[in-house]
Amino acid sequence: MATSEIMRIYTFPEPVLKTVADSVANINGQLQKFIDRMGETMYAAPGIGLAANQVGELKRILVYDLTSRSEGRNLSVLVNPEIVHGEGEIVYDEACLSVIDFSAEVTRQAQIKVRGYDRHGKPVEIEAEGLFAVCLQHEIDHLNGKLFIDHISSLKRGLYKRKLQKILKKGKDSEMRL
Ligand code: NI
Repeated sequence: MATSEIMRIYTFPEPVLKTVADSVANINGQLQKFIDRMGETMYAAPGIGLAANQVGELKRILVYDLTSRSEGRNLSVLVNPEIVHGEGEIVYDEACLSVIDFSAEVTRQAQIKVRGYDRHGKPVEIEAEGLFAVCLQHEIDHLNGKLFIDHISSLKRGLYKRKLQKILKKGKDSEMRL
């Protein structure tokens, strides 16, 4: 796919990242094209997950691919995802394509069950644990206008905001992955 398919990734503190995305009512060809562009944008970043808010679209769509690079691509999509069950606790050092040059430990549920729709509008139910569960919760948070830094203490968040000011002055680039 051409480079022109890659979309800009919005970064904190842009307002679209703080906004709750709308449910998708109609899964059609245009939406499938958008999903492919999300996939290309995620792979180019590179990242393992991306939510539509991050490319400036307030639609409840997320893409992910936790396959290792050497195994090739296996793009997965969830439209209108909803966590219907969760249990246990997992702590993972998270980063985000929309939060430049920062990572922090976040506590989330260790096992979750998610319902949604695939790219053809077929209902799907997914059980996830470990990094997969972290990734889905992180991306669903995006659709709810929430970033991983909303899970850390206000003290740590304040330190990041000050760090970000310095980074933006220097024009330093991101190496982040989620
Ligand atoms: Ni993210």
